[in-house]
Amino acid sequence: MSQLETPLFTGLLEHIKKNPVQFHIPGHKKGAGMDPEFRSFIGENALAMDLINISPLDDLHHPRGMIKRAQELAAEAFGADYTFFSVQGTSGAIMTMVMSVAGPGDKIIVPRNVHKSVMSAIVFSGATPIFIHPEIDKELGISHGITPQAVEKALRQHPDAKGVLVINPTYFGIAGDLKKIVDIAHAYGVPVLVDEAHGVHIHFHERLPLSAMQAGADMAATSVHKLGGSLTQSSILNVREGLVSAKHVQAILSMLTTTSTSYLLLASLDVARKQLATKGRELIDNAIRLADWTRRQINEIPYLYCVGEEILGTEAVYDYDPTKLIISVKELGLTGHDAEQWLREAFNIEVELSDLYNILCIITPGDSEREAGLLVEALRRLSAQFSHQAEEGVKPKVLLPDIPALALTPRDAFYAETEVVPFRESAGRIIAEFVMVYPPGIPIFIPGEIITEENLNYIETNLAAGLPVQGPEDDTLQTLRVIKEHKPIW
Ligand SMILES: Cc1ncc(COP(=O)(O)O)c(C=O)c1O
Repeated sequence: MSQLETPLFTGLLEHIKKNPVQFHIPGHKKGAGMDPEFRSFIGENALAMDLINISPLDDLHHPRGMIKRAQELAAEAFGADYTFFSVQGTSGAIMTMVMSVAGPGDKIIVPRNVHKSVMSAIVFSGATPIFIHPEIDKELGISHGITPQAVEKALRQHPDAKGVLVINPTYFGIAGDLKKIVDIAHAYGVPVLVDEAHGVHIHFHERLPLSAMQAGADMAATSVHKLGGSLTQSSILNVREGLVSAKHVQAILSMLTTTSTSYLLLASLDVARKQLATKGRELIDNAIRLADWTRRQINEIPYLYCVGEEILGTEAVYDYDPTKLIISVKELGLTGHDAEQWLREAFNIEVELSDLYNILCIITPGDSEREAGLLVEALRRLSAQFSHQAEEGVKPKVLLPDIPALALTPRDAFYAETEVVPFRESAGRIIAEFVMVYPPGIPIFIPGEIITEENLNYIETNLAAGLPVQGPEDDTLQTLRVIKEHKPIW
């Protein structure tokens, strides 16, 4: 089969063309039984493809036909031994990776700035996380990757670990020396699991960081939907056999996956793979050129800084993805969130994320000079409007969360007897829930950690800046759920 073929998409089109009379779910029956306004907006073609795993259409849980062929083509395109499609995002694929290597009591080495899905899987599996401190960028106020030395040190102390998880690249597009990390972990016989949520495209262009499969990693959870052109929620899990068994991985992915798998999502993975494999290099090349141009323009605007290759040079910042525009606005005396809101209100521009100091914009093959030019124009206006603040020297102090000590495994804390205490009285207690800012969804607290004053302050600063702090049952954050303390009875 050739990469120009799309067995799944084409198979669905052939099925739809036969126009079968459907006595199966979904009950909207090609849209006929659906709210007419939604039907007319979304269109008949999409509704005709909203099918279910009847036997001519194969089954993601036991693929033997068109889904199997589509996954095999994806494996070839991504340089994997096996590729599994995920309709539960990269979160589902990450949970599968963690749960396929680590069970109750097993150790798994992870950077502390992991996405919440890693920690959820650690709670589900009962594994014990061994945290590695990511490199912190005090200028930008963000965390980067982990260094090979830190991985070596962690493995020397915990050679019985069942896996090393690496984020490559980070949400901000920064990559560590993945190849070196893989070589170190493999010397200990430990598999490397890569959170490649932000790196589907890197496999297809030599100017981008090495992909997980190129670096020899054992598994990679990759968001095709984020930067690879498929529909939101569709991702892949790439597997290299040897230290992990593809059959075991597939069984766990199936345990975590809905039985009602969306064919719209699956077909979009098939066509995205075709586009990446056959035209990816050229499309990504254009996106890199556009991003480089945009970065140069932004760096000519007073008080703004768009990160470029000058950031490289440490082992945790070994490579970067130039299509990510990290724009620091702190010199203007604004938070990233202020800038995000201003761009929305003044220019109808939506950014990828904001934090206390930066906004992140992504350039993909879906952009043209028009959008890039508009962003530059908007940022010029932003700078002009707030330059007086910069001249008055209103600059926020860069504040970063610290990494609290872990007193209990996340699972023990999650299932322990708990109580609710006022937010401000919680310092020193062991937290039983997650607290994070989403996006990017990196936990400030995970269940089992000892609450610190510094991190309570950090949460309050994020809330005051209008950033979305999430996780606790009490979404007003007046209270936090902590492990119950049993005091002596008088
Ligand atoms: C670093 C990282 N890993 C994993 C995920 C989860 O990906 P998905 O949204 O496809 O479940 C995200 C999502 O933002 C992420 O930023």
